[in-house]
Amino acid sequence: MNVILFGPPGAGKGTQAKKLVEFYKIPQISTGDILRANVREGSELGLAAKEYMDKGELVPDEVLIGIIKNRLKEADCEKGFMLDGYPRTLPQADALSEILEELKKPIDVVLNFEVPDEALVTRISGRLMCKCGASYHKTFNPPKKAGLCDACGAEVYQRADDSEEAVKNRLKVYKTQTQPLIEYYEQKGLLKTLDGTKNIDLVFEDIKAILLEFA
Ligand code: AP5
Ligand code: MG
Ligand code: ZN
Repeated sequence: MNVILFGPPGAGKGTQAKKLVEFYKIPQISTGDILRANVREGSELGLAAKEYMDKGELVPDEVLIGIIKNRLKEADCEKGFMLDGYPRTLPQADALSEILEELKKPIDVVLNFEVPDEALVTRISGRLMCKCGASYHKTFNPPKKAGLCDACGAEVYQRADDSEEAVKNRLKVYKTQTQPLIEYYEQKGLLKTLDGTKNIDLVFEDIKAILLEFA
């Protein structure tokens, strides 16, 4: 089962990906998480990426295409994968098609999370993150022990690019550079649009109903 989780910042891609990993036992490939891990480690890639990320800009396509190419070749993608946060531009989508054609792993479905802007801003401004990739929300999905990750016990924190200014720019970047991919995947007959405003468990049920066909 090869799936793309698609949608604006704060739509719930990462939240649902964590639940899907547990349910289907296929890996989540989050380019945002991969980049943030590089930033934390202080790698060359991380240092270069940080400047873009903090401003809410996209990291250059060549960098992302390289990351995805290597990641999809790893053994854990054999039975399927979930892309979260990739592709975000037409060149990234074209590169993905080429890579997957070579690997003979076609995309089964693109899950398009639809959530209005006001809700996205509320979600992002209340988000709490963990270094393990888990994400919470102060109101909608608080950790069981205040301030600590349910999954690994580490302290949760606010993401550097969740500042008001960066969020506004991320939404703008989404609309101009990423949203056109909706039509791209619609034309390929792969797009399934979800009502992402429902609560986390209901969205998960809707996704499972769609994926039934591919599991
Ligand atoms: P990335 O990490 O991908 O961030 P993003 O696209 O901005 O998406 P988010 O992670 O903010 O949203 P999400 O949909 O995962 O929401 P979540 O589940 O956490 O990218 C970050 C940066 O890295 C980019 O700006 C760019 O610089 C760079 N980058 C990454 N990939 C790139 C690429 N391919 N090309 C170029 N640059 C790239 O949920 C949000 C909040 O809402 C949480 O608090 C959650 O608890 C809550 N929530 C979730 N679902 C619900 C619900 N149903 N109801 C109520 N609350 C909910
Ligand atoms: Mg995310
Ligand atoms: Zn954690």
